[in-house]
Amino acid sequence: MRFHVLTLFPELIDRAFGTSITGRALERGNLELHTVNIRDYAKNKHNKVDDYPYGGGAGMVMQAEPVYQAYESVRKTCAHRPRVIYVTPQGRVFRQNLARELAREEELIFLCGHYEGVDERVLEEIVTDFISIGDYVLTGGELAALVIMDAVSRLAPGVLNNEDSAEFESFHRSLLEYPQYSRPEVWREKQVPKELLSGNHRRIEVWRLGQAEKRTRERRPDLYREYERRRACERELLRNKLLHMDMLENLRTDRAQVLQFDETGIMLLDDGRGVCYVSAREPQAGRSMLEKISGQEYDPVPVLVLHQEFLAETAEKVLSETAKGRPGDWELESRLPYVYTQRNPLPRRYEAEVVRLEGSHDGQKRAVGLLLSDLPKGEDRRKQEALKSLAQGRMYGGFSEGKLKGILAQNQMGALDFLYVGEAFRRRGIGRALETAFINRLLEQGRTPYLWVKQENEALQALQENLGLCPAKSPLWILKNSAKNSGF
Ligand code: ADE
Repeated sequence: MRFHVLTLFPELIDRAFGTSITGRALERGNLELHTVNIRDYAKNKHNKVDDYPYGGGAGMVMQAEPVYQAYESVRKTCAHRPRVIYVTPQGRVFRQNLARELAREEELIFLCGHYEGVDERVLEEIVTDFISIGDYVLTGGELAALVIMDAVSRLAPGVLNNEDSAEFESFHRSLLEYPQYSRPEVWREKQVPKELLSGNHRRIEVWRLGQAEKRTRERRPDLYREYERRRACERELLRNKLLHMDMLENLRTDRAQVLQFDETGIMLLDDGRGVCYVSAREPQAGRSMLEKISGQEYDPVPVLVLHQEFLAETAEKVLSETAKGRPGDWELESRLPYVYTQRNPLPRRYEAEVVRLEGSHDGQKRAVGLLLSDLPKGEDRRKQEALKSLAQGRMYGGFSEGKLKGILAQNQMGALDFLYVGEAFRRRGIGRALETAFINRLLEQGRTPYLWVKQENEALQALQENLGLCPAKSPLWILKNSAKNSGF
């Protein structure tokens, strides 16, 4: 991931970001930082970049042209037009879900203002996102940009030591953290809670969850109310858990917000990935839920995951009626969910050694390209998506005799998305070894492995049943707006 920062104080950004965890990630090449001094683009002999505001008033305003030229110097180096973030107290408030959304980008440009602001015309010309880090006013945008960059960086692959620690943090992310203790066991007559010394994993988990709930209830009643609502929503979804495992996992990992939860149905929105999950009790309720999503408020949602057939039947119609794209823009696919419902890991398979692949490793990238070269024509999109998973650190490779023979990609939600074994290496248990490793890894993270299988993919269905995954009784439908680019 690469950050470009347009600022009057590049040394402040370089120093702060070059320290500690982000500094090490820069050294290793997991992150890149490029600061641009806006003053270098001033055209006058004193390198002045500010002037008095038209209409009078206190303070100075940063002029449009130097900011624009600084931006142009960066844009020219980028393959695609990156998002440009202007940090300002007038923006959308920065939260973890926005951090996750930004972490999906390959490149981001930050514009840091100073003085009383920046000439509005250049903001209109270049800025895609206005973001605030909270309801207070700083002297300049640098600290705000650093806060955002820090939170986004720890979600980028390879930045934290344990690759999974940020991406799949514990279940209780909508709660405040539980208290932590370290040695000595007794400090100033204060004893470490006995549960933590018990060595009993389950007991420790229960204690931590209880503490996290207590803290949240006492310190953040607003968060706690939301947590209770999510729990109630989970209980409802558990009534048909095989069909709803995607929604459950989204709730448990705190990726989606609850848009609707009542006796007519449940609707979750993962705005980071632009995915809306809908489950309705009956067609009329389903129709009004679909109308709600296609209304102004939640536009644009490029992907809908529909859990009942009647939703699939009306969705395209509703979406085209409400003018959210032409009917032809929407593609509908049906999938059968499979869930690994047991808690115990599968016995390890030795047919292949399974390792997480690194998008920055040229040799691995070449090996994946070679393996995918025998994908049939017309599967180019699959190939592109697989390469994107590799770049984002969501791919595992199955090696035997030192050769890459199969790959498994996880989608952004952690579900198995793509399993592929090279033509010449099939029927040797490589797919099975890959999926076994994937399932065991998710179980270690306390998650429930699941995947959606195309109904015509009989080989993959047979593998699921063989591994002991349970199919849902009915399929679900994915409706994608092909005119919009989704990270799904
Ligand atoms: N610039 C000044 N104050 C700010 C804030 N609260 N958030 C983002 N940028 C800012």
